[in-house]
Amino acid sequence: MLSLVKDRALAPSGRVKIEWARDNMPVLARISKRFSATRVFKGHRVGMCLHLEAKTAVLAEDFLKAGADVAITGSNPLSTQDDVAAALSETGVHVYAWRGVSEQEHRSNVAKVLSLKPDILIDDGGELSITAHLKGSRWLDEIIGACEETTTGVTRLKAMEKAGRLKFPVIAVNDAYTKFLFDSRYGTGQSGLEGIMRATNLLLAGRTVVVAGFGWVGRGVAQRAKGMGSRVIVTEVDPVRALEALMEGFDIMPMADAAAVGDLFITATGNTNIITASHMTVMKDRAILCNVGHYDVEVSVRDLERISKGKTRVRPEVTEYKLKSGRRLYLLSDGRLVNLAAADGHPAEVMDMSFAGQALSAEYLLKNGRKLASKVIRVPQELDLQIARWRLEAFGKKIDTLTKVQRQYAQSWQL
Ligand SMILES: NC(=O)c1ccc[n+]([C@@H]2O[C@H](COP(=O)([O-])OP(=O)(O)OC[C@H]3O[C@@H](n4cnc5c(N)ncnc54)[C@H](O)[C@@H]3O)[C@@H](O)[C@H]2O)c1
Repeated sequence: MLSLVKDRALAPSGRVKIEWARDNMPVLARISKRFSATRVFKGHRVGMCLHLEAKTAVLAEDFLKAGADVAITGSNPLSTQDDVAAALSETGVHVYAWRGVSEQEHRSNVAKVLSLKPDILIDDGGELSITAHLKGSRWLDEIIGACEETTTGVTRLKAMEKAGRLKFPVIAVNDAYTKFLFDSRYGTGQSGLEGIMRATNLLLAGRTVVVAGFGWVGRGVAQRAKGMGSRVIVTEVDPVRALEALMEGFDIMPMADAAAVGDLFITATGNTNIITASHMTVMKDRAILCNVGHYDVEVSVRDLERISKGKTRVRPEVTEYKLKSGRRLYLLSDGRLVNLAAADGHPAEVMDMSFAGQALSAEYLLKNGRKLASKVIRVPQELDLQIARWRLEAFGKKIDTLTKVQRQYAQSWQL
């Protein structure tokens, strides 16, 4: 089936972005070299639903070079880069993605990817996996398994497993140490702030930044905002994580209190209705709201629309809402993940690890998937450690190894 992209003429600019990303992803390149030599995915079909930007295109091309038939769609309406999608569509990958897709177009693109009858799914948010189940597709039995990239997807697929509805194994790539400790924390920490800075061109130093959620993403965002000179307040529902934030030097309070004192609000919970009308009505004039969680449900855009008397696009990624009280609030990237909508997503070095995890997990599924139960499982530890070793090597760093005496000492129990 022909690809559907915004404009094929954009391909040259997309190609430059893809090659830049590839040059900064040596761990994935190492895996890809082996895949290409052995054509390990020959005869298989890989369906992908990921933020379609340069690093993702590298992964898709690597599956193609490994012999697979590959189809891809974006996992968020604002995270597709049209030039990258155009460049990727020239390689033989079936691409169904453009920036600004409607809900209906997105669903139709997901269906197009599934019409390839993929036997391996690479998902970010669980949409391919869940749609395949809901459609009751005849080829459901042919699906060897799926690899899931993000916390929100893992949460949903675990809920499916608990309900006894999951029909194939899922590897929670998100839960690999080489993913969440780096991609979710340092990746979103850096790219989240980059998105905010690109969108607003405003100073972070001296601003009071409220970070909702102190998970891996929230930790990274809070740390980086502190590093930029912001005064950071964290809101949480988990007492342990709240304590951790407090001891990291952040202030802790409920959103109802933080709403009145924050200058910039960043949601990172993966949950819904974190900032609603009751918070918005007490916010300072010109407060800025944005989100780095997977879906656009953390800042209630519906509430913002309801309590406003008008809105204006004041910069490409900034909408000014005039409240009935006369105050103005600024929403970035329509409440969608600001690091991908207003910037280029995570730095290549962290996606190098996350996508190495995707590639090795997909290969693991090929070899072992038919023997696995229909559960959400972790990335095998030896793969996780291998990725870390290769990434250290790429940084030009060496570490010690245990001596025989140390190994024995560490394993002994005698006093
Ligand atoms: N923007 C990106 O590129 C990117 C990258 C990685 C993950 N994500 C997404 O970011 C979200 C968070 O991921 P994570 O890995 O940090 O998840 P996590 O589960 O580690 O952390 C979420 C935190 O939010 C807290 N929380 C939940 N409801 C809350 C509420 N009402 N108020 C305050 N805190 C609340 C939880 O207690 C938890 O500590 C997910 O949607 C994930 O898919 C986005």
